[in-house]
Amino acid sequence: MAASRGEFGSRLGFILAAAGSAVGLGNIWGFPSQVAANGGAAFVFVYLLLAFLIAYPVLMTELAIGRFAKANTLAALQKLSTGAVSRCLSSVFGYLGVAVAAVILSFYGVIAGLMLAQCLTSLLALFAVEPGLLSGTGASIFFTLVFMVLTLAIVLKGVSSGIEAWSRRLMPMLIILLLLLIVIVLNQEGSMLGLKAYLVPDISKLWQGELMLSAMGQVFFSLSLGVGTMLIYGSYINRNESLPELGAWVTLVDVAIAFLAGLLIIPAMYVAMSNGVEIFDADGKLLASSQLVFVVLPELFKSLGSFGTLLSALFFAMLVLASLTSSISMLEVPVATVSEQAGLGRKRAGIVSVCIIGSLSVLLILQGEALFDLAVTASTEYGQPLMGLVFCIYLGWLWQRQSLLKELQQGSPHVADSLFWRLWPAYVKYICPLIILLIFYSSLR
Ligand code: TRP
Repeated sequence: MAASRGEFGSRLGFILAAAGSAVGLGNIWGFPSQVAANGGAAFVFVYLLLAFLIAYPVLMTELAIGRFAKANTLAALQKLSTGAVSRCLSSVFGYLGVAVAAVILSFYGVIAGLMLAQCLTSLLALFAVEPGLLSGTGASIFFTLVFMVLTLAIVLKGVSSGIEAWSRRLMPMLIILLLLLIVIVLNQEGSMLGLKAYLVPDISKLWQGELMLSAMGQVFFSLSLGVGTMLIYGSYINRNESLPELGAWVTLVDVAIAFLAGLLIIPAMYVAMSNGVEIFDADGKLLASSQLVFVVLPELFKSLGSFGTLLSALFFAMLVLASLTSSISMLEVPVATVSEQAGLGRKRAGIVSVCIIGSLSVLLILQGEALFDLAVTASTEYGQPLMGLVFCIYLGWLWQRQSLLKELQQGSPHVADSLFWRLWPAYVKYICPLIILLIFYSSLR
């Protein structure tokens, strides 16, 4: 079976694919909204800190387990298992990862579908066409399913000519679009106030527990941790590559893009405010984050006339691209697992997965907000930290140290003398589980 598994064709290809997974709505929409809601620059500071203190070690855990096993989550955890109990639990956790990935993709697809509709609306508006048809429940279902089919089409082409090739194309486009939009927004009136709010921290807000916890949740989601996405991407990495370096690149790109997205959205909010758009409610709190992207920004674009319409099309196109490189990484979890475990073939596994996940999306759209929020909370606040904990425990407590070292030495022969090797294994064994338990505890309250 090993011979038929896909593999990333190059180092850059992996970095772009994994960074493509990491960079998504979580960076461009989630991060700036959290910054705005949590004291501006203070949140940015804590986020950066946690990205390297928590996200990077957990990301490395997934990558190492994945490349060691060269298999999907379930089979990988089984390979690390030491007895009947852990082997049996591996199946449970393997399928739990699949379930969490499926739920995340089901709500992610709905939001990405809305972005797609917005993008098309703006494009049509450029040609003075005003389609009345692109909003409402029917349209939402339609665009979600279109987005799912796009995701499926890429995943079905396989690891290197699908996921890798498309990430290589889409990621540079995304970065160019983002930079372009930043330059434009920073040249608008009012943007400098936003820049200040973004970059000058209010020290008094720095060490609030709640802020730390939101930042931790955000970091987990943003780096696509705790469902097996990165584990499976790790399983496609060639043994000549240095894992600690690859992981560092992915973390850096993810953090950099979140930072850039903040540089766009926070000033854009203040520009909108100086154009008369409300961004805070009566209590001085920021409007809900969904309103930020779907109300505040469109108002801003509108106030800029037809140039704004063009910007709007570009902005939503950027969000669709970012969502697509993330959604393919989510779909890869069920596809790899089902095709390898049930011997089903990628095509069938992909079609079956998308049918199930697409139906779940439709259900979420039809049932309304309560179920949607439940799906988001259950998967991101409970599912992801729990699975993150599982990965840390398997690596820290079940994987023999010598075997782990041998895996890391492939591609980085001098790793045994590095600071990374001295700190990381113990860190994953003791500190990460503790931190994750803390997140978990706080979300249970
Ligand atoms: N990290 C992506 C974002 O920031 C979303 C994502 C992709 C994801 N794959 C994932 C989140 C797996 C959780 C688990 O938008």
